[in-house]
Amino acid sequence: MREAGVNLVSVGIFSWSRLEPAEGNFEFGWLDRVLDLLHKGGVDADLATATASPPPWLSHRHPEMLPVLADGVTLWPGSRQHYCPSSPVYRSAAARLVEALATHYADHPSLNMWHVGNEYGCHVPACWCDVSAQAFRDWLLHRYGSIDGLNEAWGTDFWSQRYSSWEEILPPRRTPTWPNPSQQLDFMRFSSDALLECYEVERGVLKRVTPEVPITTNFMGFFKPLDYWKWAAREDVVSHDSYPDPADERSGMRAAMAGDLMRSLGQGRPWILMEQTTHRVNWRDVNVAKAPGQMRLWSFQAVARGADGVMFFQWRQARAGAEKHHSAMVPHGPVETSPTWSDVVTLGRELARLEAVCGSRSTADVAVLFDWESWWALELPSKPSNRVRMMEQVEAYYAALFEANVLVDFAHPGDDLSGYRLLLMPNLYLVGDGAAAAVGRAVESGATLLMSFFSGIVDPAEHIRLGGYPQPFRALLGLDVVDFHPLSAGEDVALQFADGAQGRGEIWSEDIRLNGAEVLATFSGSHLDGRPAITRHRAGNGTAIYLATQPDPKTMARLLEMACASASVEASADAPSGVEAVRRTAGGKSFLFLLNHREVAVDVPISTAGVNLADGSSVHPGLVHLGSRGVAVIREGW
Ligand code: GLA
Repeated sequence: MREAGVNLVSVGIFSWSRLEPAEGNFEFGWLDRVLDLLHKGGVDADLATATASPPPWLSHRHPEMLPVLADGVTLWPGSRQHYCPSSPVYRSAAARLVEALATHYADHPSLNMWHVGNEYGCHVPACWCDVSAQAFRDWLLHRYGSIDGLNEAWGTDFWSQRYSSWEEILPPRRTPTWPNPSQQLDFMRFSSDALLECYEVERGVLKRVTPEVPITTNFMGFFKPLDYWKWAAREDVVSHDSYPDPADERSGMRAAMAGDLMRSLGQGRPWILMEQTTHRVNWRDVNVAKAPGQMRLWSFQAVARGADGVMFFQWRQARAGAEKHHSAMVPHGPVETSPTWSDVVTLGRELARLEAVCGSRSTADVAVLFDWESWWALELPSKPSNRVRMMEQVEAYYAALFEANVLVDFAHPGDDLSGYRLLLMPNLYLVGDGAAAAVGRAVESGATLLMSFFSGIVDPAEHIRLGGYPQPFRALLGLDVVDFHPLSAGEDVALQFADGAQGRGEIWSEDIRLNGAEVLATFSGSHLDGRPAITRHRAGNGTAIYLATQPDPKTMARLLEMACASASVEASADAPSGVEAVRRTAGGKSFLFLLNHREVAVDVPISTAGVNLADGSSVHPGLVHLGSRGVAVIREGW
């Protein structure tokens, strides 16, 4: 570990059955030896609470703690994460283990951070068992206060679903056709909260026993089941597991996007890349290996996007078990001849040179408005089109800005948005009054807004906002949407811009009546021929641009370029295509990250002198040379 420059390791994540081999019988001796050894070697511990995989004795004694799917199938022990999130048995056993661990290691010098659970919800994001049913009822009682309130919120007069007592209410189990959408949405909220309560139980113990020790739990990027806005507010440090697929050419962009989300979840604070693989994973159909330089590139990318730590799953490649074909820092074969090991050692040496970057932050002028609840509601079935998928919509915006090297934050629509000059709303199907007003205020006071179709359609109960689509944004956009005309797979529609430019639209089209907005582009050739497709409206001191279709990538890039220009948003650097440029700053210091995602070498123009921290070389205004998948971290100026 010293050779590889390791100074923090996650320990004991799946060790419950070793730490507590029988109920209440704790054995810490082996872990004491590990932590003592780490400490002697100058390595700190991100000590796991070990609750992600309950020991066989627990579920054997309490089978009622096992999770059950919507169609009644029980998930049995024998892999990991086999617990119902609402199970009092699981929660109290977890709390007892954490109490014992925290008490035992409170004063251990290697204890640097707590790693609570592991990838909450990764395999079991929700449970439909009887215990969950009761917990769901309690959650609903708390939310609605009365059965009448619930009936109103769920619109239960539809299809004769009116409830007369709480006992009648179930989680949305397998039904003949669509379960009540408001019920499904509440169940998603409840399920995210149920896991958050598991986390909170452990956090409560840790904060009491070791109040000074920071706490994290590892996130998984844009993980749909958990509302990470709520979760991140309860963490001291945001951490993230990143497994981009080397076989997918969009992976570099997606990893950057997840990194930006992590920075945003922590309100700009530095985060930690908790897990990535050195070479290959084991859980895809085909586990394509990272190309030469890709592990280094993606590690530096995480730092560029705000990480202050880069870690891996796993240290030593296992000999047995389900993950023995997953790469590690120390491979099965001899380290002397392993390119993976040599890459790991080199990376460790390089990262050590970035000490000065730690604690620095990035400032974005652009925010993508992103809300888990809206994501959940959007992707419930029975819509005008099931082809509107949240992540595709987000990526359509993000990819263009990534290519243009414009830094983007993610923000909850109800947040204070006053720091942003450009707001992007890929889709906000569900919106509350407060969030809709916050967006309106931001535009009125000068921001530019780019909003896509099918936003502002329902309220938090998943009821249509009456008064014309998109009801909360009609005045802001200066238009009414009369009705939707979704496009089928493979169908697209021509777009004609006022300046003569042309483009194509996919997924969606709609019939718009203008009410003050000007037309930037019309549909052309379809039965909406000549009707508005892209509009612009002045609202207060700001501008609201509306997209009634999903423009092709080139058109999207052009629109974003126009929006950036009108909002005076600039790129981090003028880098050639395929080169990612991001800046982190602290006080008067600034660090420019240049990351070449291409296999071929490239020269990047820079205008300031500085030092490339990656290799210690001096750089001068002119061209910086980046080799195949090469990186530079330029400490600018000082
Ligand atoms: C996740 C888990 C790890 C391991 C890796 C494999 O990140 O946290 O325990 O299973 O996936 O890629």
